[in-house]
Amino acid sequence: MAKGRFRCELAVFRLCTMSVAVLLGLGLLAAEGRRSRCFLNRAQERCVCYNLSEETAGSIIQCLPATVVEFQGGDVEKYIAFPVTDLDPSVIDTLGSLVVQKIIIGNVLVPEIVLARVLRFFSYTHVKELAFESCIFQGTGDWSNMDGQSLPILSLSFHNVTSAPLMGQEQAFSSLSTWLEALEELAVTGSHATSLPCAIGRVFRALRSLNLAQNSLSDGSLSPAFCQGAFPQLQNLSLHHNKLSSYHGVCEGLELLPGLRHLDLSHNKLTADPSSSCQWPASLRHFNLSSTGLDEVPTPLPPSLEVLDMSHNHLRAVDISLSSLKKLFLNQNLLQAVPPLRSYPMLDTLHLDNNSISEVPWDQVKLLGRLQDVALANNPFSCSCSGAGGLQTLAATGHLGQGWPGDYRCHSPEQYQGWPVARVSVSVLRCDPAAVVAPLCVGLALLAVAGAVCLVRTRPCRRP
Ligand SMILES: *[C@@H]1O[C@H](CO)[C@@H](O)[C@H](O)[C@H]1NC(C)=O
Ligand SMILES: *[C@@H]1O[C@H](CO)[C@@H](O)[C@H](O)[C@H]1NC(C)=O
Ligand SMILES: *[C@@H]1O[C@H](CO)[C@@H](O)[C@H](O)[C@H]1NC(C)=O
Repeated sequence: MAKGRFRCELAVFRLCTMSVAVLLGLGLLAAEGRRSRCFLNRAQERCVCYNLSEETAGSIIQCLPATVVEFQGGDVEKYIAFPVTDLDPSVIDTLGSLVVQKIIIGNVLVPEIVLARVLRFFSYTHVKELAFESCIFQGTGDWSNMDGQSLPILSLSFHNVTSAPLMGQEQAFSSLSTWLEALEELAVTGSHATSLPCAIGRVFRALRSLNLAQNSLSDGSLSPAFCQGAFPQLQNLSLHHNKLSSYHGVCEGLELLPGLRHLDLSHNKLTADPSSSCQWPASLRHFNLSSTGLDEVPTPLPPSLEVLDMSHNHLRAVDISLSSLKKLFLNQNLLQAVPPLRSYPMLDTLHLDNNSISEVPWDQVKLLGRLQDVALANNPFSCSCSGAGGLQTLAATGHLGQGWPGDYRCHSPEQYQGWPVARVSVSVLRCDPAAVVAPLCVGLALLAVAGAVCLVRTRPCRRP
């Protein structure tokens, strides 16, 4: 073997094993002899490595052009005893020249002791996002070598993990605080989380986005998690698919988040208690109440909303006024009429698919026609006059969503049942006599006036 090649391989090997390697599960040895290697997708700048082992670690060299590197499978237990000392300058240089921005580690058993040891080496890289998916974290690490250490990682996520590190570990928190104080995005999803201690939120001083979707949080776990001083910069919060049950309980639990802009409560079974006077943070702009089992529009709503999603509920009527609202999603409800549009002067998007709306009256066609995006597919349209005519006029504006014409069908009268609304020919005379009669009358009146003028004019002419 040539010396150069050997050194190169050695560098790669050390790079792998000593730095990123251990943490990334690079040395993940699955069963001996199992095929394992990395695959680069150049177009996506993404590289995926399966069950990498020491023997095949060289194939990670393929991943050098990738900005996203994913390691799947294996376990890093065998590195518990691996001596990780300080890196020599050439390895540090190599780490600094890697273009990788995001690292995903999936289906790995991670001893925390290993994680704690190698996390520091990320400070030599440009990795901004670190994600763990379907991992099991074991034991507790000694994080003291992270004291005062900052890292380039701004986004950290855990999905379907068992006992995510950091949760409920005071010592880990104080050692990692320099880094965590600067973290901007955190996700802990699909991991059966039931609570978040108050102290954790106080560490995440710069956090802007927190995703806690698909966990087991209940109303009572919100107040402690979002206690005074917790997550002071938080703008986006997802509590999608948890065990929340009271609209007002959630409101009370989030009262202390001063800058919250986006809140996702979709897929929780919420009930509203009309006697509560809780106020949502005034900063809220996007509110997602999709699939929350609502029978009525809950009050109060945040006053300055721009986007409101109440789709997939059991709403029969919506009569609210939100003067800054731009997008309103009400698809999949039980509405029988288009909500009064005068209450939303800024609206540009309105989705009403899958409701029980049978007609779009002419006066609303005009208002709807001014929106950029209107959707009314799969409603039981009456294809008598205003039903079909209104929709056809609306379609002519080009702002009806993609369901037109296929998903707009007549439900009545009987002779048109199942017909595409677009195919019903609407006779203006039959449908809107006023539209025809009024101009006719004006015309007749004008004729009469003209006749009279003529008479008056012609008379003096006859005079000598
Ligand atoms: C969640 O992670 C476990 C390993 O901890 C894995 O066996 C399971 O298939 C994962 N579930 C999903 C839905 O990905
Ligand atoms: C609201 O949440 C639902 C379900 O999670 C999602 O499909 C929808 O896109 C969200 N709405 C908006 C406006 O983001
Ligand atoms: C409307 O209902 C149909 C059939 O149930 C479904 O396929 C479609 O996704 C729904 N559309 C919306 C926007 O909810």
